[in-house]
Amino acid sequence: MKVLVIGSGAREHALCRSLSLDPAVTALHCAPGNAGIAEAAELHPVDALDGAAVAGLARELGADLVVVGPEAPLVAGVADAVRDAGIPCFGPSKEAALLEGSKAFAKDVMAGAGVPTARSYVCTTAAEVDEALDAFGAPYVVKDDGLAAGKGVVVTGDIEQAREHARACGRVVIEEFLDGPEVSLFAVTDGETVVPLRPAQDFKRALDGDEGPNTGGMGAYSPLPWADPKLVDEVLDTVLRPTVDELRRRGTPFAGLLYAGLAITSRGVRVIEFNARFGDPETQVVLARLETPLAGVLLAAANGTLADLPPLRWSDDAAVTVVIASHNYPDTPRTGDPIVGLDAVAAHDAPHAYVLHAGTRREGDAVVSAGGRVLSVTATGADLTQARERAYTAVSRISLDGSQHRTDIAERAAE
Ligand code: AMP
Ligand code: GLY
Repeated sequence: MKVLVIGSGAREHALCRSLSLDPAVTALHCAPGNAGIAEAAELHPVDALDGAAVAGLARELGADLVVVGPEAPLVAGVADAVRDAGIPCFGPSKEAALLEGSKAFAKDVMAGAGVPTARSYVCTTAAEVDEALDAFGAPYVVKDDGLAAGKGVVVTGDIEQAREHARACGRVVIEEFLDGPEVSLFAVTDGETVVPLRPAQDFKRALDGDEGPNTGGMGAYSPLPWADPKLVDEVLDTVLRPTVDELRRRGTPFAGLLYAGLAITSRGVRVIEFNARFGDPETQVVLARLETPLAGVLLAAANGTLADLPPLRWSDDAAVTVVIASHNYPDTPRTGDPIVGLDAVAAHDAPHAYVLHAGTRREGDAVVSAGGRVLSVTATGADLTQARERAYTAVSRISLDGSQHRTDIAERAAE
């Protein structure tokens, strides 16, 4: 099977790593990719947002499967362009990807499907914003309606800051504050059958102790030893299946990866957000534990044959990933700094620990930073304590001037 992966982050590197380990995969391509993915796949300089160009490349390569990683191409209709060219594609249609592309649409689907989520108002005027903020009280939760790479949400006790964010966004969703730990649960679906993966937890804030601004995610781990063992079945029944059924009922079936961002509140599980693709960095730890070869799973979702797939097999290992980010991330990050120590990780820590690349590019013999999140250092172990130790040992071998990482990924869960 020839596979083409679209995207350039650590999630795509994790997908390419798993696909490269799948004996059914005979050729692996990625567009546009990064310096790390280049070691697992052949790179092509194609604009991921250009559906005609992606479909053209897939046809030229004779791809049997295209996997679209990030949300922006999905929302732009890239998966539709690939399917229109007659090539199986893992990733929802433009219409179904609105589940991530518009928070207001997602709320409407949840209302239709009876899925538990925070009460909310969609607001466009200052008067509507004030009324909604007043109705819920502090802490205030204000979300940009559109795509914002995980940075469109402000949670604050300061009403002026809440108003300011709403003004800057235009159309916002204002909702009640959800208390309790967060869980990310992914499901692979062909629009009918829903196969949940293993839950993971992401660390969204930039700094240790969940301080600082929201980011795209600074680290993750799986499994969640503190979670109710019935959580996956419960979310499958109350969130994932009803949502997939509702989108099918509306004539816009969702096939691809359905990401449920959940809060485990004192009143039960609530959906914080849906995404229409694998999460980053959770994918790095979830795929590290998946033993079933990946390509067949994604192809079955693309072809509508998930019901025929045997149950997924999972390793009992734990996995931890730690993100190394550029100086000044999540504000405008500094790029172009050389990354040193990647060889040392490969020499000393493999196969239990390895580096997945996000914002990196090759400059001559050097690998340099090229984005906000630069690397996702991933490790497995018999338990979270061992996986953490291995991940942080690998992190300590890497130097990148001005870089930052959290030191407390999976710390509480490991205890
Ligand atoms: P989102 O982009 O919707 O996932 O929001 C980003 C982050 O903001 C979430 O992971 C939460 O940490 C936080 N957040 C979003 N919505 C709420 C809410 N209703 N209550 C509390 N925290 C929230
Ligand atoms: N880890 C959060 C996300 O992928 O949106």
